[in-house]
Amino acid sequence: MLTVEDLKNLQGKKVYVRVDFNVPHKGEVISDDNRIRAAIPTIKALLEKGARVVLMSHLGKVDWKKLKKGEKTQEEIDAQMKKNNLCIAVEPLKKHISEAMGKDVNVYFCPENRGEALAQAVAALKDGEILLAQNTRYQAGEEKNDPELAKEWAGLVDAFVMDAFGSAHRAHASTVGVPSILKEEGKPVALGYLMIKEVENLTRCVEVKPEDRPYVAILGGLKVSDKIKSSMP
Ligand code: 3PG
Repeated sequence: MLTVEDLKNLQGKKVYVRVDFNVPHKGEVISDDNRIRAAIPTIKALLEKGARVVLMSHLGKVDWKKLKKGEKTQEEIDAQMKKNNLCIAVEPLKKHISEAMGKDVNVYFCPENRGEALAQAVAALKDGEILLAQNTRYQAGEEKNDPELAKEWAGLVDAFVMDAFGSAHRAHASTVGVPSILKEEGKPVALGYLMIKEVENLTRCVEVKPEDRPYVAILGGLKVSDKIKSSMP
């Protein structure tokens, strides 16, 4: 696969960067922005090449059945999500991205993740600027890898970079749908630095070299219950 290093001639090009900014939060207060900082090298490399970066991430989980989409306004859905500390608008991430990027980089937030508002926000980006789009999971089609949603997102950009290691196991519109379409169109699809680092480290654990034995695996993190389930079927 291509990596972010292979991407050339990005002046004026819009790059869809799927990041995993599913950070620990209590309502709108983010308690740990490590996942944001981990994606900064990729974003910086793209900006240095002159790209216009469109950041897409989910934050939290949505139970669409419970929310009964269609019977509620977006405000009511937002309120319910917030109350349950589920999926929230990603706007609070913008401050953390700006801090990590430094004051010379413009970071914008689009409260929509589809339609005219998003298309206009992407079109308004200049070289070296960042747009954070609304939570991908605000679209029910995201988790179903809805082809129409993926087509709309793919149509906004010239290239795709995957740096959402924590979401790489999900076949969603933003992780699989968009890159598949762009690839078919002959547009560049590449891995970011975080993905590369994680894959290299995991490969070391899976394909253990004799000189690395014996070894101990230490599992941890805030969502350790998920990890235990998937590592001990
Ligand atoms: C994670 O935090 O493990 C990833 O962001 C994936 O989140 P998900 O389990 O809600 O898909």
